[in-house]
This record gives sequence, C-alpha cells and structure tokens, in this order.
Amino acid sequence: MAFSMRFTILVLTICSLSEQTPKKHNGHFPKHFLLGAGTSAYQVEGAWNLDGKGPSIWDEFAHKHPERIIDHSNADVTIDTYHRYKEDIALASSLGIKLFRFSFSWPRIFPNGYNTTINPHGVKFYKNFIREILKYDMIPVGTIYHWDLPLQLYNDGIDWNHPGIVNHIVDYARYVIKTFPEVGIWVSINEPHTLCHLGYSIGVLAPGIKGDGKQEYMCAYLTLKSIGAIYRMYKKEFPHYKAKMAPALDCQWIEPKSNSKEDEEAANRQREFKCGMYYHPIFIGDWPPIVKERIESRRLKAHIKEPRLPKFTPEEIEYIKGSADFIGLNHYYTALAEDLKESDPNVMSYGNDVGTVNSFKPSWIVENNGLFSIVPDGVRKVLNWIKKNYGDHEILITELGVTEDGSSLNDNIRIDFFTDYICNILSAVYEDEVNVTGVIAWSLMDSFEWSNGYKSHFGFYNINITDPNKTRKPKKSAKFFRDLSQTRKLTCDKPNRDWPGPF
Ligand SMILES: *[C@@H]1O[C@H](CO)[C@@H](O)[C@H](O)[C@H]1NC(C)=O
Ligand SMILES: *[C@@H]1O[C@H](CO)[C@@H](O)[C@H](O)[C@H]1NC(C)=O
Ligand SMILES: *[C@@H]1O[C@H](CO)[C@@H](O)[C@H](O)[C@H]1NC(C)=O
Ligand SMILES: *[C@@H]1O[C@H](CO)[C@@H](O)[C@H](O)[C@H]1NC(C)=O
Repeated sequence: MAFSMRFTILVLTICSLSEQTPKKHNGHFPKHFLLGAGTSAYQVEGAWNLDGKGPSIWDEFAHKHPERIIDHSNADVTIDTYHRYKEDIALASSLGIKLFRFSFSWPRIFPNGYNTTINPHGVKFYKNFIREILKYDMIPVGTIYHWDLPLQLYNDGIDWNHPGIVNHIVDYARYVIKTFPEVGIWVSINEPHTLCHLGYSIGVLAPGIKGDGKQEYMCAYLTLKSIGAIYRMYKKEFPHYKAKMAPALDCQWIEPKSNSKEDEEAANRQREFKCGMYYHPIFIGDWPPIVKERIESRRLKAHIKEPRLPKFTPEEIEYIKGSADFIGLNHYYTALAEDLKESDPNVMSYGNDVGTVNSFKPSWIVENNGLFSIVPDGVRKVLNWIKKNYGDHEILITELGVTEDGSSLNDNIRIDFFTDYICNILSAVYEDEVNVTGVIAWSLMDSFEWSNGYKSHFGFYNINITDPNKTRKPKKSAKFFRDLSQTRKLTCDKPNRDWPGPF
C-alpha cells in the first residue's frame, strides 16, 4: 500500500514535470523549411489598361469609390511591377528566399473574363515573369484568383453571388494551369473568408456589397464550390503535373475575453464562423455544425421561409472535401471575443449570427491601420487548433507579415515580428509536432493595400508612391531576412525586446 502510493506520486510527478518542460528547440529551421515572399497582381502590377488588359472589379471600385480607399488612391500604376518585374524578382532573389508568390490577373489573360478572348500580351507577360523567377532558382507560387474579378463578368451578373462563377473560374484556371506548367505550387483562391466577409457583408472591399445576412454565405458556398471544382479539374485533366494545390485560407486567432463560459463559447463560435466555415468543408466535409445550427435557429425565430445558408448536396460535400494538397494559412493577428446577447433575429446579418464583439488587450501593440495586433504566440495557437480540428496535414504559411507607416527604413518592428512569430512557428513544429513546411512573408514590397491604399507598408522594400521613379529602397528587415535565409537560425531563447506582454 505504502509502496504503491509512493509509486503513484512518483509517476504523477514525472508526468507533470514533462508537461512543464516540453522539448525545446534551438531556433534552427527544420531541413526542408522554406522561406518566401508574396505579392498579388492588382496590388503591384499597375498597367491597368495597357497591352489589352481588361478592367477588374477592383479597377472599377477604386475609380468609382475613391472615398472608400483611405487615401483616395487606386492601383492604376501602383509600384509598376508590370514594367519593373525583372528588378523586383532580382530583389526577391537577393533576400535568399526560395518561394516567390504572385497572382495571375484574370482580366489580363481573359480581358472580359470569358475564355473566348485571350490576350496574348498578358500570357507573354506571365511567361516572362515566371521565366525570370526560375532564372534565380526560386519556386513560382502562383495564385489563380486574388480578388481581381473581370469587370465584364460582374456587369453580366456573374460574381461571388451567382452560381455561374464556378464554371467560368474553372475555365480560367484550366487555361492558366495548361499555359503555365512551370508553376511549382498552386494557390487556387486567396482568402475566401476576407473576400466574402469584406466584399459581401461589410462592403469595404470590391464589389463593396453591404449584405443583409445572405450574400456572405452565398459567397462562401461559391468560393468553396470553386475551390473544389478547380481542384477536381486539375487532378483529372493534369494528372502528370507534380505541383501541389491548395487555397490560402485566412485564419486569425480568437481568444475569449474572459474565462466565463459565455466568452469561451463566443470565441469558439467566432473561430467556426471565420476559419471553420472554410476549413471544415475542405478538410472534414460540410459546414461546421455550429454554423448550421446558429443560422437555422435564427431563421426559424424570424419565420423566414428561405434558408439563408446554402445547403451542400452530398456530391458537393464529397468534391469539396479534400480539395487541398496541403493547408495554406494566411495569419496576422489575435483578437479577443466577447459574447453578445442574442440580437433580434429579424435583423439579419452575419455579425448577428456570430453574436460576438471583438477587442484587443490594451497592452497589445496594434499597427498603424488599427486592424492588426501583434501577438506572436497566436500563430502557435492557431496552428495547434488547425491540427487538432482538421488533422495532421502539411501546412504552408502562405502569408505572414506586419505593417508600419513607411516613415523610416529602420523597420525594427518587422524584424521583431518575424523573429517572434517564426520562433513560435518553430515551437509548433518541434514541440507540438505541427508540420509547417515554410513561411511566405507578406510582402515583398510596399504596394496598394486594398482599402488602406498606400497607408499600410508591408514590404521589405519601401517605395515612395509619389516618386515617379518608384525607387525600391531596402528596409533594415531586408538584410535581416537575407541573413535568416542564409543562417536558417533564429535566437529564440532570450527575448531581445519588450513586447508589451503577456503572451
Ligand atoms: C473554354 O472552356 C471550354 C469549357 O467550358 C473549353 O471546352 C474550351 O477549350 C476553353 N477554351 C480555352 C481557350 O481555354
Ligand atoms: C510534412 O509534410 C511533408 C510534405 O507533405 C512530408 O514530406 C513530411 O514527411 C511531413 N513531415 C512530417 C513530420 O510529417
Ligand atoms: C516622396 O517623393 C516626393 C517627390 O517625389 C517627395 O516630395 C516626398 O517628400 C517623398 N516622401 C518621402 C516620405 O520621402
Ligand atoms: C529619377 O531618375 C532620374 C534618371 O535616372 C534621375 O535623374 C532623377 O534624379 C530621379 N529622381 C528621383 C526623385 O529619384
């Protein structure tokens, strides 16, 4: 008896010790861990109406509604990568990175969106562009759709609220895949959550629709169907291609504001409505149960006949499920969620369905645009949450980054950000056994940041947008990232800065 008691105590002690002292890593990258940097067509190319390119909904949105862009700007010229791509790719290569992420502009290839008219200048541009990436021995990571829907399609009523979009994006994707077999990793659709939420509920991104609790769900349904349809077409029609394909799914970390049961549930609900709405159909099948229940119960309370959340057919569930060869994760920040009293069900909106309100801890640094907090261990938590809920997949971080106001080339904030976030990613890899295979920094260069215009500076290179020469000036972080690419090692054990904690 006495012996077994002591034995039990000993075992308990060992267990709790091992929980408190997990395996530490020494800051070294795993063997095949890749670094990269990213851009997207509308944000960097410019040449909005040159050489046969058709307009996109973003050209239209910025031209017609300059008041919806913080500095009333647009990306007609932006940083002019269309004419300066050789310089930009050389500068990316000088960072020592392996992954170069960019996107194809749909209306530069099919000016009116339909595959009946091809713009040969657009095709030639991307041929040259990719050849240049390969010249430096980098891997072209090609995004098929990064938000610049052809305006003609939109004017014909075909957008993320019209089921016809699926066949058209598959025709476009098929042409791009066939024409650019050099692409090493395919990203099918970028950030469907942000696209649908900000484009079809809040209205701050093109096409600028302020929804009434239906449009965002239709958009989610159609982006998911498109992700599935593009992937199935790719695997069926290009069986000899080796490149992996996945969407880039944005997922921020949500913590409960307090330890009350209500706030815990609120945080969980928000994770499911934001991340789960896309991860669940792709990695498990169908909408997350809580999303279905919540929207349906509010519909019944309001005595509305039509379902607000489109229902997947069994075939759709099957073809969307598994339509990713890896998990592409775009991550930036952490927020706190607080439960809201359930609002009047007759006031229909996505926000009322989620029923939470967000804030940041007062001690967190929030960047100049007021949107993103810097919480390095949020990335580790989100990686663990994804693994726990959706299984042990390869995860490529397709976007990770921080903005500043562009006033100085000494961007210590970016160096600290990447140090602390990547150290947490390494903890997830070594200590939690999450299979992260690389990080693509957002972004290679300062560029047009959607509704934040030129006010958010995400790049390793600064560009004064009013400078007609568009001179690319390396920030301090460019040297840091080059050194990181070479040494493949970070110092993670002693904090070298004062982030306002606690993390
Ligand atoms: C356009 O799409 C159709 C299928 O919808 C296909 O048969 C045709 O070959 C495509 N044309 C081009 C140029 O890709
Ligand atoms: C991580 O994913 C890569 C790519 O799928 C695979 O080759 C590797 O074996 C995986 N590593 C682990 C530890 O599962
Ligand atoms: C940007 O360039 C313009 C002229 O091209 C100049 O007047 C302005 O001072 C520059 N701004 C910064 C922050 O360097
Ligand atoms: C722009 O480039 C021209 C030609 O190289 C040069 O003479 C001029 O000083 C540059 N202007 C700025 C603002 O850098």
